[in-house]
Amino acid sequence: MTRTPVNVTVTGAAGQIGYALLFRIASGHLLGADVPVKLRLLEIPQGLKAAEGTAMELDDCAFPLLRGIDITDDPNVAFDGANVALLVGARPRTKGMERGDLLEANGGIFKPQGKAINDNAADDIKVLVVGNPANTNALIAQAAAPDVPAERFTAMTRLDHNRAISQLAAKTGAAVSDIKRLTIWGNHSATQYPDIFHATIGGKNAAEVVNDEQWLADEFIPTVAKRGAAIIEARGASSAASAANAAIDHVHTWVNGTAEGDWTSMGIPSDGSYGVPEGLISSFPVTCKDGKYEIVQGLDINEFSRARIDASVQELAEERDAVRGLGLI
Ligand code: NAD
Ligand code: LMR
Repeated sequence: MTRTPVNVTVTGAAGQIGYALLFRIASGHLLGADVPVKLRLLEIPQGLKAAEGTAMELDDCAFPLLRGIDITDDPNVAFDGANVALLVGARPRTKGMERGDLLEANGGIFKPQGKAINDNAADDIKVLVVGNPANTNALIAQAAAPDVPAERFTAMTRLDHNRAISQLAAKTGAAVSDIKRLTIWGNHSATQYPDIFHATIGGKNAAEVVNDEQWLADEFIPTVAKRGAAIIEARGASSAASAANAAIDHVHTWVNGTAEGDWTSMGIPSDGSYGVPEGLISSFPVTCKDGKYEIVQGLDINEFSRARIDASVQELAEERDAVRGLGLI
């Protein structure tokens, strides 16, 4: 049976994440090894030539699943019929900045793109915002798209989730594949809370296996939360291949589901669960099935976790108020 290609729009296609992302989408890692894709690349006028160069390279790979590439600087064209939209195009922070410092520079990008998604995308559109500050940019795009179900707008915390698994594996000597049910709560920022109290390592409770609250508070959490800054310090540029990998993971899991007994972390509009005010785009533990996600309910939140979740959610509320003040939502 010949499947209809899925339209995947990538913004910021000529940037460093775009370069690490597009080849993996075209080779089937985003949606599945049997799902053909059409790529729509959105860039600003100055980025079009470089995007054309990347498209030439994509052609030269002769990917069997790649059924076409369109390049444009018009959001209405880029999102026309889009089934999946990866909103990457935005300025990255540089040394010494927090991601929230980008709100003014980047926030303005996401309102017109949200409107273009509203007016042009396919009915089943799924949106992942990668451009920072990702959670609040997702809120801006969502607010500009009143006809699209709010839950289709998500923000990327999968990179933090993967970082946390990797750090926990290194600490305990476990294989990454033995670690399940890790959670990132809150904002993709230095206030995020990577929670191991419900995680398991080879079926045992991760916090009990670690049994070292000082490591948790003074090493694990800050290492994960400040990893983006550490990469900028070391590379002189913000993470790119690992960010692209996390974007692939996020959409692949959303579309194809979480494994039985496991969950993942996604920035999604809160329904009020776990005391996170409704509407804020916050990271939660979620399971995915049949292209939909659900917040994992009923987890016991201890005092250690509560204080950290609340601090990150407070920051999200402040970012929301700031973009309200800028007229972006
Ligand atoms: P980059 O500067 O290499 O590329 C950004 C690209 O976006 C450029 O080609 C630029 O021309 C394009 N662009 C700018 N405005 C645009 C617009 N309105 N429409 C379309 N394209 C536009 O940056 P990068 O390293 O690829 O990072 C992109 C964003 O992703 C940054 O904001 C960065 O902070 C963020 N990021 C997020 C995560 C995460 O975990 N959520 C991880 C890494 C990076
Ligand atoms: C990251 O987490 O690596 C990205 O959000 C880039 C950054 O600014 O830290």
